[in-house]
Amino acid sequence: MNHFDYRDGEMCAEGVALRELAEKVGTPFYVYSSATLERHFNVFSQAVSAPPELKSPKGEAPLVAFACKANSNMAVLATLAQVGAGADTVSEGEIRKALAAGVPASKIVFSGVGKTDDEMAFALKAGIYQLNVESRPELERLARVAASLNRVAPFVIRINPGVGAGGHAKITTGGAKDKFGISAEEALALYADAAAHPNLAPVGLACHIGSQITDLTPMQAAFAKMRGWVMELRAQGLSVERVDLGGGLGVPYFNQPEPPSPQDFAEMVALTMGDLKVRYTFEPGRLIAANAGALISRVIHVHERQDSGQQFLVIDAAMNDLIRPALYDAYHDIRPVAKPSGNAHATYDVVGPICETGDTFSRGRDLPEQKAGDLIAFMSAGAYGAVMGSEYNSRPLAPEVLVRDADWFIVRPRPSYEDMIAREPVPGWLK
Ligand code: LLP
Repeated sequence: MNHFDYRDGEMCAEGVALRELAEKVGTPFYVYSSATLERHFNVFSQAVSAPPELKSPKGEAPLVAFACKANSNMAVLATLAQVGAGADTVSEGEIRKALAAGVPASKIVFSGVGKTDDEMAFALKAGIYQLNVESRPELERLARVAASLNRVAPFVIRINPGVGAGGHAKITTGGAKDKFGISAEEALALYADAAAHPNLAPVGLACHIGSQITDLTPMQAAFAKMRGWVMELRAQGLSVERVDLGGGLGVPYFNQPEPPSPQDFAEMVALTMGDLKVRYTFEPGRLIAANAGALISRVIHVHERQDSGQQFLVIDAAMNDLIRPALYDAYHDIRPVAKPSGNAHATYDVVGPICETGDTFSRGRDLPEQKAGDLIAFMSAGAYGAVMGSEYNSRPLAPEVLVRDADWFIVRPRPSYEDMIAREPVPGWLK
């Protein structure tokens, strides 16, 4: 469920009409609904907190660490921090943003295949919940960094379970040939070695097999293996207190397979893992943010090609603003901001102004008839939207707006052209 609906013929985000926002903020821009962010977090959190098997031995609910990569806008992070979210981070930048947004260090997880020594040192000094170690060289460096700081590093090992899944090959992470995680055999050996190291505290295992997963079967297969590996470690007399099962649960993109609900997911986890007596972590990103955001764009003109009869809907958003269609052939529902009064439809190739054929949001899309100046909304753009934006073609980054009821606030302004030029100083010899 989301809070983007037509009211009096106009699409609103909660109580704010998008047409009014477009007039005040200019297009293109991203808009997020606080109520949707909060609702998605709460629904997921309640679902995974419900089964008694998923409570820790101390009775704690799982840690739900929002995958900041999906949307690391400070106001979005602060909204989620206020409802109790933790943060799954992949860089010092994300850790700093999460802390600054009010996520306590005790709820921060640090993942990623290439953490630098400086980043690991920063994380240890901040006192985060755990580092998710993804390789032997990384673990060796973590030991050195922790020793140099005279600290003990709490970490889990990310196992690559050899089960990949996800909405596109580029977002599948759990396949045996993918760069993520360690084979189970190596992970178990590393875990045992680390248990004897004075600066390392192996506390558990992690996995994350992909993103936009719409079928629980591969997840269940991976989780069953995780359970087996926990038992193996315990059989060797090692302690395993935590299991991080990653993110990846898909969201309903219009016209795409309906994903399982958070409740179905939680029941599957409880059934598969049983009463393992660990504290769980989950790292949902897309599930929380995707349908809480939209990208609003204005039609520049409609270009009908005389030879092919194709109609190009040329809009002022481009692949630099929302790269998912170009990168993953992703489908985003496109809706008119003004509810159409008639039934006239047309078939459009929806394109941006960037000088690449890849700057095509959709080919042959059936839409209510559009004309220059009309506003359209790309739905489900709250995750992996603005965060993946760039200034390619020297197009200013699209601003972001957060709505709460009838209030709105620009949570990242559009840079001016002067800002953009000033950011790139020219050396003296060119002056
Ligand atoms: N945890 C780890 C270790 C991850 O690598 C990811 C996503 C997540 C959690 C969150 O996954 P989610 O719940 O959002 O599916 N840019 C792509 C998605 C890349 C996902 C990368 N990892 C897209 O636009 O579809």
